[in-house]
Parts: sequence; C-alpha cells; structure tokens
Amino acid sequence: MNRFQRFLYKLRYEPVSLLVRLRNETESWLAQYSRRASLRKLNIPRPPLSATDQEVMAIHWVHRIPLPEGRYTPGDWDTAQTLEQLQLPEDLTDKTVLDVGTWDGFYAFEAERRGARRVLATDHFCWSGEGWGTRAGFDLAHRLLNSKVEALDIDIPDISPETVGVFDVVLLTGVLYHLKEPLQALERVASVTKELLVLETLVDLTFMSQPALTFHRGRSQPFSLYRHWRLDSTTWFAPNEAAVIAMLEQAGFARIQRVHPKGNLLARLNHFLNVFLPFFNVQRNYRMVFHAWKSPE
Ligand SMILES: C[S@@+](CC[C@H](N)C(=O)[O-])C[C@H]1O[C@@H](n2cnc3c(N)ncnc32)[C@H](O)[C@@H]1O
Repeated sequence: MNRFQRFLYKLRYEPVSLLVRLRNETESWLAQYSRRASLRKLNIPRPPLSATDQEVMAIHWVHRIPLPEGRYTPGDWDTAQTLEQLQLPEDLTDKTVLDVGTWDGFYAFEAERRGARRVLATDHFCWSGEGWGTRAGFDLAHRLLNSKVEALDIDIPDISPETVGVFDVVLLTGVLYHLKEPLQALERVASVTKELLVLETLVDLTFMSQPALTFHRGRSQPFSLYRHWRLDSTTWFAPNEAAVIAMLEQAGFARIQRVHPKGNLLARLNHFLNVFLPFFNVQRNYRMVFHAWKSPE
C-alpha cells in the first residue's frame, strides 16, 4: 500500500481520528512556526552547543528542571507554576519523600533540593515504554544534578509498605485521572503515607456538591471544546472536589484541605460559568490540589 492508498484507507475507516490528527498537527505547527519566527526576529547569535546541551536537546522533556550553571531542561509544562500551587513544605529536612508517577522527576529533584533525607521516584506507564514518554529525561537530569534520588519502575497497584517502604510525604500529581481504579490507587498511596499526601488532579463537575466523577473511557473526545479532552486519550475518570475528598477519607486520610485554587473565588467563578454557560464546556474542567493528612490535627 503506498502513502496515498494508506491515506484513503484511513480516511474511510478512521475519518474522525484523522481529522483530529490533522487539526492537532496544524495547531502544533502554527505554535512552532510563530515561536521560531519570533526567535528569528531577536537575531541572537547561536554559539555551538556543548556536549551536555546536545544530550539535553536530544530528549523530549515535559518538566523544566533547573540544571547546574543556571540552565533548565526545555519542558513542555510550566512546572514552576504547578510547584507553587502544590504548596510543598519549604523545608523537607530529615523527611522521606515518595513521588509517584514522577516522569522526568522535577518534583522528586525539588524534594531533594529542599533537604529530604530520602527521595524515591517511581513510575511505570512512561518508564516501561507503554506511555507517552521515556525514562531518558529522569536519568539524564539525575546524572547532571549528581542526585541521590532513588528510582523504581513500579505500577501503582503494586505499591505497598513491603515493596517501597513508608514515607513522611507522598506526591501524586497529574496521575489520578489516568487510572482505571482511582480509589484503589488512593488506598495504595495511603498505605505508604506516614504524614502528608499532596494530590494534584484534573477535576470536572465542580458545580456539583455531591461526590461525582465523569467517565472518559480512556479515549480522546475529538469534538470537545476543552483542549485536554481533545488531545488526551488516557483519561479515565475526572472527579469533582467532593469525590476527591470522599475518596481520600475512604482511603484512610483524616484531614483534607484544598490548597489550590486558594479561597473560594476561582471555585465560585467556575461554578458560575458551569451553571450559566454549561453548553460552552470550556470552563467545565480545571485542576485542584489537595493536602491530605493521616492524623486528625
Ligand atoms: C501527566 S503525567 C504527570 C507527571 C508528573 N507527576 C507531573 O505532575 O508533572 C502522569 C504520570 O503518571 C504515570 N502513570 C500513569 N499510569 C501509571 C501507573 N499505572 N503506574 C505508575 N505510573 C503511572 C505516567 O507514566 C506519568 O509519568
């Protein structure tokens, strides 16, 4: 089958996914083109890349990890902004930290930088080759930072005190909604948390006060106006705030606080948009961060 025949075949059997791909490719090409054009206007002379720069540039990063000599890995995501929203304790001296679903490892390296005595970074989906990325970024950053962060390829259902140990602080950021069994995952994570779980997740149905989750079947939704659902084909459940709190309680956490968005202004605005513009479907989803403690005070 030549390229043209393949195209016709796909058009016949996968018209929607082909059109979505075309739209996504065009979007990303336009974004890249406008970035290149603006860089060209700056006319900055480019010195030859060092061997380390070449190694860094050869990897597709999602995290912007600070490297020695004021450099950063060119990650897709604004990790500094998310870090602010997580409200991690500034001082982690003598604490043990577990980062579940670490990918490039930004939060694990940050915990080490904040003085943690032991940090374990785990992943499976990306590190095992099934997922969107690889472990190459984590390994390179680990080497360049001369880091002592430990790494373990383990699937979340296999996490237990026997397999990984127990940690003062556990991070679960950007992972919950990718899992088919979110409650089971929180139970696994609770079993290895001594003090605090920092949970960051996509949420949906935030206008509802009863616990509820939307079910996304691990498929992208090509016609959604919300970019996340269009592009991501690995989302299973998106909980609302009440469902996150109920699941965390069920998993064994005694005290739970939403730390992002702060106060109720953004949450209220979102509620307003959901109630009055439900057809618009743009503001329906956003992200929240919760701190969940094992002890009641
Ligand atoms: C959206 S990324 C978030 C990465 C990072 N925690 C962050 O907040 O930037 C989701 C991560 O969860 C991991 N993941 C997904 N399913 C997993 C599973 N069943 N077991 C372990 N890790 C998983 C992926 O490999 C990926 O690293």
